[in-house]
Amino acid sequence: MTGELGDWRRTHTNGALRLSDVGREVTLMGWVQSRRDLGGLIFIDLRDRDGIVQVVCSPQEVPAAARAAEAVRSEYVIAVQGVVAARPAGTENPRLPTGQIEVRARALRVLAAAETPPFPIVDGGDVDEAVRLRYRYLDLRRPSMYRHLVLRHRLAAAIRNFLAAEGFIEVETPMLIKSTPEGARDFLVPSRLHPGKFYVLPQSPQLFKQLLMVAGIERYFQIVRCFRDEDLRADRQPEFTQVDIEMSFVGADEVIALSERMVAHAVREALGHHVPTPFPRLTYAEAMDRYGTDKPDLRFGMEVVDCSDLVRGTEFRVFAQALASGGAVRGLCAPGAGGYSRREVAELEAVARAAGAGGLVPVHLDLEGSRGPASRFLGPPALAALRERFGARPGDLLLLVAGAPREASVALGRLRLELARRLGLVGSGWAFTWVVEFPLLEPAPEDGRLSAVHHPFTAPMEEDLPLLEAEPLRVRAQAYDLVLNGVELGGGSIRIHRREMQSRLFAVLGIAPDVARDRFGFLLDAFQYGAPPHGGIALGFDRMVMVLAGQESIREVIAFPKTQSATDLMTGAPSPVDPRALEEAHIQIRRSS
Ligand code: AMO
Repeated sequence: MTGELGDWRRTHTNGALRLSDVGREVTLMGWVQSRRDLGGLIFIDLRDRDGIVQVVCSPQEVPAAARAAEAVRSEYVIAVQGVVAARPAGTENPRLPTGQIEVRARALRVLAAAETPPFPIVDGGDVDEAVRLRYRYLDLRRPSMYRHLVLRHRLAAAIRNFLAAEGFIEVETPMLIKSTPEGARDFLVPSRLHPGKFYVLPQSPQLFKQLLMVAGIERYFQIVRCFRDEDLRADRQPEFTQVDIEMSFVGADEVIALSERMVAHAVREALGHHVPTPFPRLTYAEAMDRYGTDKPDLRFGMEVVDCSDLVRGTEFRVFAQALASGGAVRGLCAPGAGGYSRREVAELEAVARAAGAGGLVPVHLDLEGSRGPASRFLGPPALAALRERFGARPGDLLLLVAGAPREASVALGRLRLELARRLGLVGSGWAFTWVVEFPLLEPAPEDGRLSAVHHPFTAPMEEDLPLLEAEPLRVRAQAYDLVLNGVELGGGSIRIHRREMQSRLFAVLGIAPDVARDRFGFLLDAFQYGAPPHGGIALGFDRMVMVLAGQESIREVIAFPKTQSATDLMTGAPSPVDPRALEEAHIQIRRSS
């Protein structure tokens, strides 16, 4: 079969040729990065996903090729046949791996013409993200975007190989399902065959992977798309990918150890970096107290420190009042920020207030002592004790917050991130940590009713079981989150596998037996037929690639992401559909007037 390429067959990719190839006859294909006419010669930088090579056409030597070359513009797709030659002395380009050579064209064919692209196909540059998303196929031509996709592919391949070698099998679970409770809104899919009934898209395969454990699969994994209709942020998409894992006959430590080995293996395979294991562990309570968040960034210190005992009895009213009402005084020591201006401190106070603090008390430290509105009231002994507690040095800035202990830590946790950014404390590298012993239950913000922090199948810690009915908020879960550089990478838990325990928890959650039956009857039924103890985890794969690629948004590592408002600027989704399709789906649109 002959096609448009005739007998032309690509012999090399454009990043491959070196001095050792000089004299070789080659056929290259790719996109025109640029074309320059210089001194009677035409130079074309020819690009493919592998790199760029310089092609030279001489009108004297190959008039037909030169005529064809004259017609080409940026992003034309061309094929070139020619001979590799060393570049003349002084014209080498040390920035290109192929910079020592060029290809002297003998023949050149245009395979496809191209409109002028809306932005240049080069890295860097400040192109509006909306334009990039509208023309994503051009955006993905940029070398950095290709690198992100390659990293993503390598990580997925390494994870698959690792898990397969550990005896896991990849099992697909359905996309059209009944709701899985992960706490977000479901995307609904109307049923044509069952008027008025809907499938939902899975927020995760949670219930199916548990059913696979009842089915005796023992070690399941899936690199799987999940769907959640929630407010989007830089690290959230309405559809995203999880590395989803479930194991039978294990406790939390085994799931944690397996996940660590998997992540370390994937980073080694994909990036060639060594990640030391085991990862450090923090309890939820420690993380909240010391970092004000359940996803602490451990690339830098500057921990939140309680100093209530040191300021008790001083004359500073704000502190005295907070302590008298059962609160705490906590703070941070910002190294080298003692010289911050009033305006800078006011900006920090705004950050703390937005995070729930009633105010922010600065203590500027210098060689002579300290300044700031509180210094006088605190008095020299308390100030000296504070310096010691924080390990502060002259030139540092203490920032103190008085209030309910957890709230003070949360506000200081936000401030910690802001200060680290301003002070350049965030080093390079990857800081993994586990956060363990999450609370099992929390009061819902709307009505204070108890709800599950993870999901209602998460097992309580055995030692806390006696508290389940009497003090449910004190019960900790056998749950764990994996955090990388302040990003929640994944989470999981050991599950409840006994019916009696599940009924007990439903009762505490106020889920009536008939409601439980209606929502999760299939799982409860399955548990009657011998469920093994089991547990698992899901890692947010997009987030993992994002952090490892050094990016701040998961949109940079997803080929075709949605915008912050969940639209696809390239295809125009979501969009109205044919009225007939609506009718078939038994859907009537109510137009708001
Ligand atoms: P969870 O809801 O914590 O757990 O989700 C696991 C991980 O998935 C990622 N993630 C997201 N990534 C991008 N966009 C989103 N909208 C989004 N939502 C979640 C996060 C998160 O840590 N079934 C349980 C896991 C288990 O218990 O085994 C679950 O889905 O990185």
